[in-house]
Amino acid sequence: MKGILLAGGTGSRLYPLTHCTSKQLLPVYDKPLIYYPLSVLMLADIRDILLVCAPDSLAPLQALLGDGAHLGLNLSYALQREPRGIAEAYVIGADHVRGQRSALVLGDNVFHGSGFYDLLARARREFTGCALFGYPVSDPGRYAIGEVDGKGELVSLEEKPLDPRSDNAVTGLYFYDQDVVDIAAEVEPSERGELEITDVNREYVRQGRADLVQLGRGFMWLDAGTHDSLLEAGHYVELLANRQGVRVACVEEIAARMGFISAADCHELGARMSGSAYGSYVMDIAQDLTGP
Ligand code: DAU
Repeated sequence: MKGILLAGGTGSRLYPLTHCTSKQLLPVYDKPLIYYPLSVLMLADIRDILLVCAPDSLAPLQALLGDGAHLGLNLSYALQREPRGIAEAYVIGADHVRGQRSALVLGDNVFHGSGFYDLLARARREFTGCALFGYPVSDPGRYAIGEVDGKGELVSLEEKPLDPRSDNAVTGLYFYDQDVVDIAAEVEPSERGELEITDVNREYVRQGRADLVQLGRGFMWLDAGTHDSLLEAGHYVELLANRQGVRVACVEEIAARMGFISAADCHELGARMSGSAYGSYVMDIAQDLTGP
């Protein structure tokens, strides 16, 4: 299964933070925002990933992540010159995913919860057309909202509804079969001028081939696209680090636990950051994996 990480956009809701920095490089406590969506693809056992970004972000993102080989990944890059909509990821990334199943994750989405690995593995095994991931929110007007019938079947999807039919937000993680390239190619710009991912998903709903996988209570999801949510994400990650000693979205740890790199490689990555608590954590993980 291939992956696309959409890390474009202007980050205008985060001005002035994003005047001369890519939003995906902003810190969420101890690491850049992009580590969080990247870790989601890695947990879904996806290693061949296309990173779609704005022209200004290309050089810094490449400096940060390179070709991904240090994490056992194969990272490539493509430009989205203007933010024409999320579905454009599948126009730009058509050659990357053609003929294969794929996952798309948005560059500002932060997920965390126990059992996430198992949930992703099950969704990956079971989905036919597409799998969407639902999460109850208190402000449904900000997201795509899914409505399910009595049998739990997804019956409608609305992008940022004025009068939401439920509080079940569709998060920024999507699994698709190989048809997504053709479906995305047919999408027309919406009233706000964007190629909406919700229009792609609606086509799967129309075909009766859309699963809505519920992220339950105790799960944390947010999109760190505003000043408040960026800070909330940072506080959440800080709390887990200080209270439980767990570092969310530590890509070096995930690469080692998933078997993408060896424990020795993981230790080496930590040693390169040995001046920081994060680097020490990565070395400790490598030590744990090596055993006594
Ligand atoms: O976070 C989940 C929500 O993401 C979904 O519920 C919505 O259906 C979906 O439309 C999207 O809503 P947002 O209002 O959060 O989308 P936003 O324009 O903020 O873009 C989300 C991320 O994708 C952001 O990091 C920028 C990036 N992006 C967005 C667009 C439109 C791009 O890289 N290129 C684009 O053209």
